[in-house]
Amino acid sequence: MPDKAEITIGDSVTQWPIDEATIGNHGIDISTLRADTGFVTLDYGFGNTASCESAITYIDGEAGALRYRGYGIEDLARNASFLEVAYLLINGELPTSDQLTKYRNEITMHTLLNEEMKRLFDAFPRAAHPMGILSAATSAMSTFYENYHNPSDPEQVSESSIRLIAKLPTVASFAYKKSIGQPYIYPRNDLDYSSNFLHMMFALPTHEYEVDPVVARALDALLILHADHGQNCSTATVRMAGSSEANMFASVSSGMNALWGPLHGGANQAVIEMLANIKEDGGDYQKYVAEAKDKNDPFRLMGFGHRVYKNFDPRANVLKDFAKDVLEAMGRQDELLDIAAGLEQVALEDDYFIERKLFPNVDFYSGIIFRALGFPVRMFTVLFAIGRLPGWIAQWKEMTEDPRTRIGRPRQVYVGAVDRNFVPLADR
Ligand code: ACO
Repeated sequence: MPDKAEITIGDSVTQWPIDEATIGNHGIDISTLRADTGFVTLDYGFGNTASCESAITYIDGEAGALRYRGYGIEDLARNASFLEVAYLLINGELPTSDQLTKYRNEITMHTLLNEEMKRLFDAFPRAAHPMGILSAATSAMSTFYENYHNPSDPEQVSESSIRLIAKLPTVASFAYKKSIGQPYIYPRNDLDYSSNFLHMMFALPTHEYEVDPVVARALDALLILHADHGQNCSTATVRMAGSSEANMFASVSSGMNALWGPLHGGANQAVIEMLANIKEDGGDYQKYVAEAKDKNDPFRLMGFGHRVYKNFDPRANVLKDFAKDVLEAMGRQDELLDIAAGLEQVALEDDYFIERKLFPNVDFYSGIIFRALGFPVRMFTVLFAIGRLPGWIAQWKEMTEDPRTRIGRPRQVYVGAVDRNFVPLADR
């Protein structure tokens, strides 16, 4: 491998060191480009720009591979628990049995919200989207733990991380209960992470709610599949906010808002809405595929395409199998699964999708499983956020521990007016 790259600008040639990756794309370190040449790079959407070195998640978009800390996603989804994976992402190694027991206990002992937080939920309109409540409540949490804001203090960082992972399912379920006018259900320490969340979501004070272990296991695996994905839009947002030394709660809340968009985590809701429309419209997939291909029509096939995956999204593959298993185990049928499979088939055989390497992404099948597990559509992106939380924390921590981190501050290529004299209002 070459150890230097050359950039020629007019007659001047400059050399730049190569930053070697253990696997995947190597980097050209242009950190002094502007100072040395007066030029900056322009890269809309950062498709060619690495913002950091990271040892957390590896994605091979061509091969369709995804690994957390070197472990394949399929392996982890089948064999590990969500908290085990959270520990792995945040600490770099799989926990020993003792470490995992301690970690689980710490999380379990922090699941309650401060009672004053409940007033926050009451302040939202009944129809409020739970993602808005989730990010607001996460930001609000920072005000309850103001002695834990120092990113350079490992104890404060660890405590904030435990609190966030412990409390997010409680926040999410309270947001849901508020939206349907039911009483909040408090966490139960005898249940595992996913079972406790399901209980808070679906129990009522009036009767016992038995958590189905098949459902809890499926939810746990789904959270694992969402747990990290390199420098995606929401994670880059968490890092950007954190680079100003904003506290972990505030940084994560910023990431949640980025996740909400329909081109990112909001796509899982958009997919189900699209499939339901197709069903209502008589199930003609071809019509929707044609609309997605029409450049004069803004419609896109939701759940198709990915910035990084140009072969297949390995998470979608695991989920597709899972969707069938879960529906079978729960004795349910979902017409939308048939529509999804039909649409996938049509799109995958179409030249437009083949040429552009557009395949189903994680959101294409996750919504069908979330529906089968009993979650309402508006909670889907919230579930994504609960899953992605350990990744956001791991990336935030990695950034704050990296001595090369500087406040995130991109440059621009200015194309506006150069120098104008102010014109008084009366003369305009
Ligand atoms: N339906 C139809 N055409 C599409 C789709 C789609 N879902 N996705 C991309 N294309 C087309 C584009 O129009 C473009 O065509 P062109 O080359 O003729 O102009 C080409 O494929 C490349 O697409 P880009 O938008 O340049 O790809 P980019 O990497 O910027 O966008 C994205 C990726 C946002 C995921 C896009 O594929 C999309 O909008 N998909 C639908 C929304 C979605 O499912 N988002 C979830 C992503 S996964 C996640 O965040 C967890």
